[in-house]
Amino acid sequence: MAKYVVALASQIPPGQCKIVSAAGREIGVYNIDNAFYALVNRCPHEGAAVCRGDIVGRPDSDMPGTYRLIQRGEMVRCPWHGWLFEIKTGQSWCDSATRARSIPVVVETGEALTRGLFQAETVPVTVEDRYIVLEF
Ligand code: FES
Repeated sequence: MAKYVVALASQIPPGQCKIVSAAGREIGVYNIDNAFYALVNRCPHEGAAVCRGDIVGRPDSDMPGTYRLIQRGEMVRCPWHGWLFEIKTGQSWCDSATRARSIPVVVETGEALTRGLFQAETVPVTVEDRYIVLEF
């Protein structure tokens, strides 16, 4: 496993992302509350540069017509189709496979309904002597 020093920790303030190159790949390194996470800059849906999307929260709802934002600053919204990905895990929170036909009805939690099938690729991040290091 190779190590890639890609930035000083001070170059990525909390709430920000820096897109770096390592091993021929573009990678978005995020600072969430002074912990660092990295996503490969390729959306698993159709290949957009997902790390160029806005850093946002995840909408959550207890009933139709109302919502609140949770996980503020922990999601990235893909700039092409707006799918949300959890920065810490790469988990998607959208599913575009909407169809109208015979529709079975079940009762599920809101979390089960919004968790997507896709997962953006994550890269382990460490900070060594204030330098951000990717290892993969
Ligand atoms: S390419 Fe990212 S949501 Fe479609």
